[in-house]
Amino acid sequence: MQRLAVAILAAGQGTRMKSKLPKVLHPVAGLPIIRHVINNARAVTDTKPVLVVGHGADLVRQTLGDEVEYVTQAQQLGTGHALLQARAALEGRAEAILSLYGDMPLLTRETLQRLVATHQANDAAITMLTAISDDSMAFGRVLRDESGQVQRVVEEVDCTPEQKKIKELNCGIYCFRADWLWPRLPQISLSRKGEYYLTDMVEMATREGYRVEAIVLDDVREVIGINDRTQLAWAENVLRDRIRVALMRSGVTLKDPATTYVDATVRIGQDTVIYPNCHLQGNTIIGEDCIIGPNALVRDAEVGCNCHINASVVEDAILEDGVRIGPYSHVRSQARLGQGTYMGNFGEVKNSQIGPGTVISHFSYVGDATVGENVNLGAGIVTCNFDGKQKHRTIIEAGAFVGSGTMLVAPVRIGAGARIGAGSVVTHDIPAGALAYGVPARVKE
Ligand code: UD1
Ligand code: CA
Repeated sequence: MQRLAVAILAAGQGTRMKSKLPKVLHPVAGLPIIRHVINNARAVTDTKPVLVVGHGADLVRQTLGDEVEYVTQAQQLGTGHALLQARAALEGRAEAILSLYGDMPLLTRETLQRLVATHQANDAAITMLTAISDDSMAFGRVLRDESGQVQRVVEEVDCTPEQKKIKELNCGIYCFRADWLWPRLPQISLSRKGEYYLTDMVEMATREGYRVEAIVLDDVREVIGINDRTQLAWAENVLRDRIRVALMRSGVTLKDPATTYVDATVRIGQDTVIYPNCHLQGNTIIGEDCIIGPNALVRDAEVGCNCHINASVVEDAILEDGVRIGPYSHVRSQARLGQGTYMGNFGEVKNSQIGPGTVISHFSYVGDATVGENVNLGAGIVTCNFDGKQKHRTIIEAGAFVGSGTMLVAPVRIGAGARIGAGSVVTHDIPAGALAYGVPARVKE
């Protein structure tokens, strides 16, 4: 098996995005465009991809960290010049070089695997991707000889009217024999446009009598690069559709796929049912047999099995098995709801741990609190966690019963099994097993 290394060309400006953000960092299906490309590259090789950066290089570096290796193309002098920048990083490291574009998030790993496998099986200097399409999309055209062998690629601007009619397009994705590529890459001559065209390598190879293989793509949409925001939206749709299909094939029911928006990063267990209008985002993991929605937003959350999230927002939180939330509640900022907790409507839980079996049924705010198991928090209770300067914690121990409309002025502790009468304002700790009520709350014998 030959060693394979990947170069990703991503130095272009992306002017048509009309954006302060470098093009390849625009998110699509929950990940920056470039991350989709990197993830796919990982499917064909273990080696760190080399990313050719230019415009917005600093931000790209910040975002991706050491996931990739960077080389800089200070001036965008064309695709051939861009790949040449990766030479020092890659020469001698691999026998085959896969060259990708950073702005093609739709190219599938299956296609990459096919390209690489074909390259490994043949003795070609170049194995390239092509596609047949009626719409030329301003791609370069693939010229073949009478025997059907690829001869060269002509850029659309350089095409004769006859060549313009050719329907086989160059996708810009190639696998090169490294020992052939590196010495020849600097030999590309300047085009009329003043660029070094990577496509010239094809003609160089055939002129020297080397073989050029081509894989013809079934679906040209895979190689449509993102140049503007209409293409961004379109790619978003295509990627989300693929995610939905993969989920359904893996055993997740989507009641209405068209209104189920799942990021590429989300994992969902078998027999979970997603009702319409749900947004599942970021590093979210959902277990088996859950019911999500309708109308739920779940972001960066870990949801156990058998949970039910109805018309609610859950972000940066952990829900253990059997948790029920909603409708119309909000769980956020490092909240953890223990097994079987029930949180009804119009509640908010923030930065709190809620013990198993605890009930928070109506109109509550629980912030910066530690709540034990089997606690009953009545309607409208509030942890008054902020004194205007600082946040303070509330501790409610196991089995406590806090009556409706109670204000818990933190820092404060309610002991295990204590009962607080409705409408109390609790400003001091209440011992375990005590009964307290009033404003301010006092312990009754
Ligand atoms: C290129 C091909 C064309 C092919 C098309 C497919 C050449 C000369 N032409 O067209 O045959 O049909 O791709 O999309 O290769 N980049 C750099 N540095 C540069 C120039 C480009 O990093 O100096 C990067 C861009 O960021 C982009 C990719 O290379 O990710 C492709 O550049 P682009 O300008 O879109 O390629 P085209 O010349 O349109
Ligand atoms: Ca282009």
